[in-house]
Amino acid sequence: MFICGACGHTEPKWLGRCPACGEWNTFAAGPSPVKKKSETGAAPATIPLTRVEDREDVRFDSGLPEVNRVLGGGIVRGSTVLLGGEPGIGKSTLMLQVAAGVQSPGRVLLVSGEESPEQIKLRAGRIRALSERIEICTETDLDSLRRVLEAVKPVLVVIDSIQTLKSTDLGPVPGTVNQMKYAVQELSDWAKLHRTTLFLVGHVTKEGAIAGPKVVEHLVDTVLQFEASDQDLRFLRAVKNRFGSVDEIGIFRMNEDGLEQIKNANELFLQKRSGALPPGIVVAPLIEGSRALLVELQSLAAPAKGGLPRVFSDRIDPRLVWKAVGVIEKYCGISFANHDSYVNVAGGLQIREVGIELPLCLSLYSARLGVPFPVRTAVCGEVSLAGEIRMIRQAEKRLKTAQELGFERIIGPVTDTPGWLGAAVLQDAVRLAFKPE
Ligand code: TYD
Ligand code: MG
Repeated sequence: MFICGACGHTEPKWLGRCPACGEWNTFAAGPSPVKKKSETGAAPATIPLTRVEDREDVRFDSGLPEVNRVLGGGIVRGSTVLLGGEPGIGKSTLMLQVAAGVQSPGRVLLVSGEESPEQIKLRAGRIRALSERIEICTETDLDSLRRVLEAVKPVLVVIDSIQTLKSTDLGPVPGTVNQMKYAVQELSDWAKLHRTTLFLVGHVTKEGAIAGPKVVEHLVDTVLQFEASDQDLRFLRAVKNRFGSVDEIGIFRMNEDGLEQIKNANELFLQKRSGALPPGIVVAPLIEGSRALLVELQSLAAPAKGGLPRVFSDRIDPRLVWKAVGVIEKYCGISFANHDSYVNVAGGLQIREVGIELPLCLSLYSARLGVPFPVRTAVCGEVSLAGEIRMIRQAEKRLKTAQELGFERIIGPVTDTPGWLGAAVLQDAVRLAFKPE
């Protein structure tokens, strides 16, 4: 079998040019296909589900509660976790802190193809992660690495990064799609068999090159993404997790001495304000995984620069903003025809929760008409295309968090929670917010 080193396309015979991606001279002989098992003899045994042995020590503490939270309650033994993020975001720092913090007996191995042991030691000293347990290896050849693993049998291995791994069977260039797929498959098989947890660091570039870590996501158990905000905040999210939900976020701040965990994030994204609010500003209590936090939404409706109105929104999916604009135009009788809409979330958090829809509508309404949203009032709710405000989960928790931070009421769907101003349709919410009797 021959595999294209650029895109991973396979062909039974060697070709000069890849028919899939058009690159020249990228084909190399791949690993021979798995030999077919004999079709005679006894069939492999099956086991009744109820008789599968329970294991108690499935997870262990990473030493960092924010990392445990995102993983679904700690590190799962034998699992493979891919940590992706742009260069410079803090992946190596986070991995060093986890390596130093793991609460499980056993050896911890750091495989670094990017930094020298001296550099790592220097950094570890600075961030107080200079642990006796961490062992460094700069080997990036897959066969040698396998021998190291056999000898060390670590409880945790960090590979920084998968783009530096290579297998001589697949040619001399590291970081190609085939090299990565092959290496990840081999290493995760080894890890599963030995109940070693494998953390793989992968650089995601802005251009999202074909050879990015995306190509191995289906081979791992968990995919974590490390993102930066406007400030020095860092968000850790699971985008895939076989052992937990993908709603949780871990929040950190990058300091002089490494990543600091932010435990209480309730008001992290609120701006301190006094007096009436500027038009377009609305505060929303959201549920991100198991934590409630208040975020400030900022909208601006400005005369359109071009013939067609446009939406500019980095933190909320622009399609959601378009939908909000459409719903307001339809049910509130105002027009955005000659306006560009800008939407921002203070603090830079990416928002995917549906509870943002009503705040988004009211923020755009406030911006477009120049009427301020009332003070000490928060808002949340989902909005249907028919302009109805839909129920959202955990209404009480949202209200409680908002009240703790000095908000007296919430405008949202109709509930029987005291302190909650219920609106059945968008027009009701607009009336409650902007036209109080
Ligand atoms: P790093 O972990 O090397 O990023 P990645 O592995 O994702 O490429 O961290 C990169 C940046 O973080 C680096 O530019 C410097 C900064 N940094 C701090 O601000 N404080 C620290 O304590 C450390 C270790 C790094
Ligand atoms: Mg790094």
